[in-house]
Amino acid sequence: MLALRLKSHHYMTALLSSTTILLILYLQNSLLVFTYGSYGFVSERSPCACSACMADRGKSNWFNERYNPNVPILLNSTNSVLNANVSSWWEELQYSPTAGNYTRVVDQLFHLFPDKEHYSDAGPDRCRICAVVGNSGNLLGSRYGPLIDHHDFVLRINKGPTEGYEKDVGSKTTHRIMYPESAVDLDNSTHLVLLPFKILDIQWLISAFSTKNITQTYMEVPSTIKANKDKVMIVHPEFSKYVYDNWAEGHARYPSTGFLTLIFALHICDEVNVFGFGATSDGIWHHYFEKTLTSYEIGIHGGKFENETINQLQQENKILIHRGWA
Ligand SMILES: *[C@@H]1O[C@H](CO)[C@@H](O)[C@H](O)[C@H]1NC(C)=O
Ligand SMILES: *[C@@H]1O[C@H](CO)[C@@H](O)[C@H](O)[C@H]1NC(C)=O
Ligand SMILES: *[C@@H]1O[C@H](CO)[C@@H](O)[C@H](O)[C@H]1NC(C)=O
Ligand SMILES: *[C@@H]1O[C@H](CO)[C@@H](O)[C@H](O)[C@H]1NC(C)=O
Ligand SMILES: *[C@@H]1O[C@H](CO)[C@@H](O)[C@H](O)[C@H]1NC(C)=O
Ligand SMILES: *[C@@H]1O[C@H](CO)[C@@H](O)[C@H](O)[C@H]1NC(C)=O
Repeated sequence: MLALRLKSHHYMTALLSSTTILLILYLQNSLLVFTYGSYGFVSERSPCACSACMADRGKSNWFNERYNPNVPILLNSTNSVLNANVSSWWEELQYSPTAGNYTRVVDQLFHLFPDKEHYSDAGPDRCRICAVVGNSGNLLGSRYGPLIDHHDFVLRINKGPTEGYEKDVGSKTTHRIMYPESAVDLDNSTHLVLLPFKILDIQWLISAFSTKNITQTYMEVPSTIKANKDKVMIVHPEFSKYVYDNWAEGHARYPSTGFLTLIFALHICDEVNVFGFGATSDGIWHHYFEKTLTSYEIGIHGGKFENETINQLQQENKILIHRGWA
């Protein structure tokens, strides 16, 4: 490093007297000592092993104001107690008079499913590149399949199928974010990530892997699904509120599943590529797997604001949006 610096100063030092050269060397040495001494080796290195890191806090104030690296992401037995604000927001979100006692339900949860800390492995040696795949019709004809499958994590949302659409959406799914009303069967290698909007959703998850006797929420739901019990994860209610407060800035009643999944990826990945979000080029918001050209997302979920936030994330170089061609 010293040699490098000396080289870049070569033309200057040649013009200066030998005493000044000694002074410069001395200053450069003390500068190096100062740099290492006050920041240490760790912060001198990049926060991850990718070329750009999500956790790099130095680049965007807009991002730093919203991003909280300490928010609990996934529920476990030691972080499950909800503070009063989270609990009143979350328990009133989809209040159901028949729902059980949260404390007791969570206790049952971790008798069935793994109780761990996930994804706390961020650091200078990790480069985890993720694809968040939404369900937009703009995926049709995109030929993104191979590109999507090349990612370390491929996160899909609700029912969005791969079968029959591999060329455009890929075939790999490491995580599928869902809730009872949107649940589908998974293969054995996919993480079921439950996004609970209510206590009954957690009760449904337990039931689906045990008694199978919950068949109804506000609509009929599958009594059970195929999925690997050892790969089940539950999004922390505090995380949902954090996304609502910090990223959706209180728009609509709660954020859309796609938006929550995208912010989830910002927290567990070092680099995030986004596919299948937004409208088709002619402005139609529909699902790639449905024939009807109904308009989704934009209404109930403050979609316009979410759209702007997602665009801003790209402007701040935190994500890369692939808009498809359709
Ligand atoms: C709960 O919300 C109130 C009012 O917004 C705020 O003053 C307080 O700090 C919050 N408490 C926690 C634990 O976040
Ligand atoms: C919920 O269950 C816990 C533990 O079983 C109990 O301490 C608490 O009082 C219950 N809360 C309500 C509202 O019933
Ligand atoms: C639960 O998650 C928190 C982070 O939200 C972590 O600090 C804690 O160690 C985890 N507990 C277990 C049992 O893994
Ligand atoms: C699914 O994976 C688990 C390990 O996570 C393994 O024990 C189980 O046998 C697998 N089941 C099937 C049907 O492949
Ligand atoms: C399902 O079965 C459990 C245990 O047998 C019982 O406690 C619970 O009330 C049942 N729930 C429904 C919706 O039938
Ligand atoms: C979402 O953002 C894109 C890109 O800026 C824009 O073309 C589109 O009109 C926006 N959609 C809505 C509904 O705001």
